[in-house]
Amino acid sequence: MKTAIIGGGPAGLYFAILLKKLRPESDITVYERNRADETFGFGVVFSDATLDNFEKYDLPSYQRIVREFAYWDDIAIHFRGTEHRIGGNGFCGCSRRTLLLILQDRAEELGVTLRYEVDVDDESLFADADLVVVADGINSRFRERYADHFQPEVDLRPNKFTWMGSTKPLDAFTFIFQETEWGPFIAHAYQYEANRSTWVFETDPETFERAGLRDKSEAESAALMEKIFGWFLGGHRILTNRSIWRNFPMIRNKRWVLGNKVLLGDAKASAHFSIGSGTKLAMEDAIALYEAFRREPGVEGALSLYETGRREEVEKIQHAADVSLVWFEHVARFWDFDPVQFAFGVMTRAKAITYDNLRLRAPDFVAAVDRTFANQVRRQGFDVSVENPSAPMFQPFRLREMIVDNRVVVSPMDMYSAKDGVPGDFHLVHYGSRAMGGAGLVFTEMTCVSPEARITLGCTGLWNDEQEAAWKRIVDFIHANSGAKFCLQLGHSGRKGATKLMWEGIDRPLEEGAWEICSASPIPYFPDSQVPREATRADMDLIKAQFVDAARRGERAGFDMLELHCAHGYLMASFLSPLTNRRMDEYGGSLENRLRFPLEVFDAMRETWPAHKPMSVRISATDWAEGGITGDDAVEIARAFAEHGVDLVDVSTGQTVRESRPIYGRMFQTPFSDQVRNEAQVATMCVGNITAADQVNTILAAGRADLVALGRPHLVDPFFTMKAAAWYGAKDIHCPPQYLAGRDQIFRNSVRDRQDLEELKVKAKPKTRAELKMEAGEKPLAAE
Ligand SMILES: Cc1cc2nc3c(=O)[nH]c(=O)nc-3n(C[C@H](O)[C@H](O)[C@H](O)COP(=O)(O)OP(=O)(O)OC[C@H]3O[C@@H](n4cnc5c(N)ncnc54)[C@H](O)[C@@H]3O)c2cc1C
Ligand SMILES: Cc1cc2nc3c(=O)[nH]c(=O)nc-3n(C[C@H](O)[C@H](O)[C@H](O)COP(=O)(O)O)c2cc1C
Repeated sequence: MKTAIIGGGPAGLYFAILLKKLRPESDITVYERNRADETFGFGVVFSDATLDNFEKYDLPSYQRIVREFAYWDDIAIHFRGTEHRIGGNGFCGCSRRTLLLILQDRAEELGVTLRYEVDVDDESLFADADLVVVADGINSRFRERYADHFQPEVDLRPNKFTWMGSTKPLDAFTFIFQETEWGPFIAHAYQYEANRSTWVFETDPETFERAGLRDKSEAESAALMEKIFGWFLGGHRILTNRSIWRNFPMIRNKRWVLGNKVLLGDAKASAHFSIGSGTKLAMEDAIALYEAFRREPGVEGALSLYETGRREEVEKIQHAADVSLVWFEHVARFWDFDPVQFAFGVMTRAKAITYDNLRLRAPDFVAAVDRTFANQVRRQGFDVSVENPSAPMFQPFRLREMIVDNRVVVSPMDMYSAKDGVPGDFHLVHYGSRAMGGAGLVFTEMTCVSPEARITLGCTGLWNDEQEAAWKRIVDFIHANSGAKFCLQLGHSGRKGATKLMWEGIDRPLEEGAWEICSASPIPYFPDSQVPREATRADMDLIKAQFVDAARRGERAGFDMLELHCAHGYLMASFLSPLTNRRMDEYGGSLENRLRFPLEVFDAMRETWPAHKPMSVRISATDWAEGGITGDDAVEIARAFAEHGVDLVDVSTGQTVRESRPIYGRMFQTPFSDQVRNEAQVATMCVGNITAADQVNTILAAGRADLVALGRPHLVDPFFTMKAAAWYGAKDIHCPPQYLAGRDQIFRNSVRDRQDLEELKVKAKPKTRAELKMEAGEKPLAAE
């Protein structure tokens, strides 16, 4: 087999090595436009897990690599004069140049032909090759040549960054967040060999302009970085090597294979430097391609196996990198945070590291996080302990005069089980048991303000005395038997009305017994759904009066809090989203106009609802669809409601239009809560695929929400909060006296269970290379 590899970077070279080992008889040539020892960049970084992989796939290169590496265990975060160090991270760095020299030597040793200073353009050079590996880096010429086929998506991120170096020794992966007269600068720095460290500097485009960096030469910008970070550099110089400021391109390709050509490394997919994974991704691609050839002898079969088998892993890494880079792009949001909370946010930004996991590795740091959180709670007027604080999820929270004992919320969930809008025994047991299970706040399902406002015939309502009495029975039960507060969610289905019960066909139109529906504009939800009437002023007046009447009934029934449902494509949401609102009057067009009716309804309800009781609004913070609401719009919507007296924004997303394309994942809506909370400066509740108490604590401690709602987890576990309280030893959790024996038992057992699990985790965790070096009496290079 004849193989041509375009590009002698880590991806191309490592694949050449692995393929040559697999097929020693094959003819492999790597074409590299640079000289052998000429390269850009300073250090590269690998996690211990990546090194384990290298050890498995090619021992000789692995052994040479690890000899050259600097190791560290700590991440150090510098912010506003503080330093926080978190151990147990197991990373190492090596110079890119050394890495390439090792890989070049190893490839040559195996018989790979390396041709330097060949800038490949003419493909006739390898017309007879059976396999052409396109590993020509981030600006890949060959990817672009066949762009019609590969369909690359290049998302040029707004922040500016440059790769520089220094002689400054570092004993940790170091982040420095530095305020300057122009705005924030961030340094991502680590040592990769004795007296050499990599320094990636990053800043937002506005700060970049204000600092005049656009017109500065390489030397001038290095001098400016020396000045800004001089206090830390301690006289060490900043070094450059083609260190120009650029925007990071997030690259994805729809297709990776074209005939016998295959994309590898950066040419195919890039990963932001903040998770230190560019070179790792490139070399693991090489491993994946090699594995495909090991399993499939033919080129076509192997390439197809590589493309299908590798894609998910690459997308996962890119997603983590995306989440991380977005955090750095929005660092200004957290600039006023307490440094401890800020550092916690840095550590947990990409979801892999959580509150519990940090508690194992850095208990002192998490204790400081808990104390910081408790201090914030004290500033809200609560007499909570700071010396021995509860975990964040068990800290109380105040909205007007309503106090919730903890931050866990049962999310509003339609049970589709009412008759004529009247909640029955099912509802009493459902809400009652979830309240007794310990959640601080329980929401009703969307309760409809009129018969026509219902989504389905099974929805609860609050437009008559019978419904009011039935709700009062549930409210009274909850107040008598639990510590939970009870929030009434009021809504109107709009264009999603007159549809089937969830389990008979969600959002599908009723085949018989449908009523006339109305919406902001006459656009059906499904093509075959009923076309709604465009709401007239008379409709709007009537609906507003119905909301007010239901709020009044809610107050009489004794609810503690009231929510206006403006999410998920229902009537209020249909006014907010440009995808569902095409009105030509003062209720359509600009966001200000689209907000007008929901705000009118909110104001009217607020006037009726007692001043000491809080109100929230649920919004879809993105429509996940082209031309729809975005996170930035959500900030404006939240600001508008806050100006009208909303106490909490309940941040959900989507369900506006059928064509939406949500990006699901753990805690997938939390970034929107984070954005709304920290940009609009309003309290938020987040929700969406949050399933563990650890996640609840992570979100709260990082300041990404004030309350955390869980929907589906509560459907199968009413006692989610009680169990979490036992786990974290939050003894103050309310428990009905009838259940005290159970509570005492789970609290006792949890202490032991937790100890056992933690010991197991510690035992199961392999030692990091830095720890092993230290144990062997060697110093990690970084400390030399
Ligand atoms: C300026 C800069 C500095 C970086 N520094 C670091 C760092 O310090 N640490 C880190 O982890 N990551 C760094 N990265 C990212 C990292 O280099 C990549 O993620 C990783 O190298 C990808 O490996 P690759 O083999 O796919 O591509 P590359 O390493 O980019 O290799 C591609 C190779 O192809 C060659 N080539 C391109 N076109 C042709 C052609 N037509 N003919 C012949 N040869 C060609 C190039 O010269 C290059 O050697 C840096 C990236 C840039 C842009
Ligand atoms: C059965 C069911 C019914 C729901 N009904 C409502 C509702 O009435 N009002 C509402 O705002 N959200 C409703 N939701 C959305 C949830 O409140 C929540 O936002 C969503 O389920 C995501 O959270 P989770 O991943 O914790 O389940 C419903 C969800 C489910 C599963």
